[in-house]
Amino acid sequence: MSRKGWIVILLIAVIAGGWAVGKYTSPQAAPESGAAASQPPQLEGEPQGSAGPAEGSGTGDAPVAVPDEAAASAAPSPQATDEPAAEPGAASAPPAASGNGDAVQTAAEPDSLAALINKQYKLPDDYKPDDLVYPDVPFIFSEKIEKRMLRETAARALEELFAAAEQDGVHLAGVSAYRSQSTQTVLFNNYVKRDGEAKARTYSAVPGHSEHQTGLAIDISGSDGKCAAESCFAGTPEAEWLAQHVQEYGFIIRFPEGKESITGYKYEPWHIRYVGKEIAGEVMSKNITLEEYYDAVPVNN
Ligand code: DAL
Ligand code: ZN
Repeated sequence: MSRKGWIVILLIAVIAGGWAVGKYTSPQAAPESGAAASQPPQLEGEPQGSAGPAEGSGTGDAPVAVPDEAAASAAPSPQATDEPAAEPGAASAPPAASGNGDAVQTAAEPDSLAALINKQYKLPDDYKPDDLVYPDVPFIFSEKIEKRMLRETAARALEELFAAAEQDGVHLAGVSAYRSQSTQTVLFNNYVKRDGEAKARTYSAVPGHSEHQTGLAIDISGSDGKCAAESCFAGTPEAEWLAQHVQEYGFIIRFPEGKESITGYKYEPWHIRYVGKEIAGEVMSKNITLEEYYDAVPVNN
């Protein structure tokens, strides 16, 4: 073959080789793998019904972020132990967080049983506690799934709480406990679609900001499941029992009535949060919120 012929063949080989390399090394569109993208909306453990949240008496006012740079920079290191802070000084020390002065900061000790997670303090991205277990208590569903789990300490405390309620003739059931960030994302996005973001934020946490993701919070109903995570749970014998006794087992009613401007959420008599007996006793006996306990800046967004 002539020299010219060889050059033409060489050129063709180079072009074909380049095409093949490009085809097999170019970035491909990532398949949708997140639950948020592929799962149908789930409404468990949150207000039910198509007409909006059952406790939908909220104003729907858009939240206002409250920057708290001082709190972030001045916060002392939190206790590194799993035991909730129990020293007298703990009540006035805001929980430590890391952040850059923005309104939203990341809790520095998300594994602390006393961690403050709210509209201002978020969990690290995709945080998941490593000691989730299934508490041995009835739920309103039978499957052994994510939302049946709690961190071990909270699970054992919940078992004692349920046993004590039974002794008093009050039959409780779990509704929704641990939620991964992707589950919370599905829930929250669904509420936003249904009610708009401002209203959704009055009863559902922005992903990363839910106590359910800590594995320390659980929604409770009566064993018949009626009014599960709905406003009609308020005033039931089960709600009354919880309000009177949760602190004996280290839990608090996390979003009390009349404290909406501090917690940022509507009254949820069904949502209890484990913080340990000492903090729970103080919070419940003083009728304060966890934000007030930590002397944190009110969160009203
Ligand atoms: N309903 C509470 C605020 C949550 O979504 O965590
Ligand atoms: Zn809840």
